[in-house]
Amino acid sequence: MEKDQTQNDAIQLTTDHIKTILMDIFIAGIDTPAINMIWAVAELARKPTAMKKAQNEIRSCVGKKGKLTENDVSKLTYLNMVIKETLRLHPPGVLLLPRETMSQIKIGDYDINPKTRIAVNVWAIGRDPDIWDNPEEFIPERFIENPIDLKRQHFELLPFGGG
Ligand code: HEM
Repeated sequence: MEKDQTQNDAIQLTTDHIKTILMDIFIAGIDTPAINMIWAVAELARKPTAMKKAQNEIRSCVGKKGKLTENDVSKLTYLNMVIKETLRLHPPGVLLLPRETMSQIKIGDYDINPKTRIAVNVWAIGRDPDIWDNPEEFIPERFIENPIDLKRQHFELLPFGGG
């Protein structure tokens, strides 16, 4: 006899599931860019030369249009570097999302048991002096002709995680 829907192993999506997923997206998508923007402005306020460069770039791009559009974003190379540098120093998701090991693994000299909870400290990676020169300094120019970007598997800079 065929199982009815309540006995089925498949997850039954309810309104509560949908509401939870939507809430998850709102929480993940509102706080993170807001935190990034606040830190970017704070860092620029502390570094007037960088602020001036960012302002000049935006003003020359906006021209008489009055406002920026999404198409302009790729032209704003300095602003993109400012955002990257801000995410390096102040990643909103400091420890990413928790992970659990699925088997016995070795990281450096450490043997890690299966089912161990792992937190990846991207805040510390972003300030690691073995990776970054003057790691505590806000220097957007460090990304000029630097292949490290946010979208690929560059483990030096993981504000969005590695997936
Ligand atoms: C500066 C902007 C953002 C940063 C730094 C950021 C960072 C992150 C990080 C670190 C994670 C965990 C990834 C992991 O552990 O592998 C994550 C997950 C997630 N983010 Fe973002 N995020 C940003 C913007 C957004 C926006 C705008 C949205 C949606 C509109 C969003 C939706 C999500 C969702 C749904 C997840 C969970 C994915 C999953 O369940 O695996 N994020 N984000």
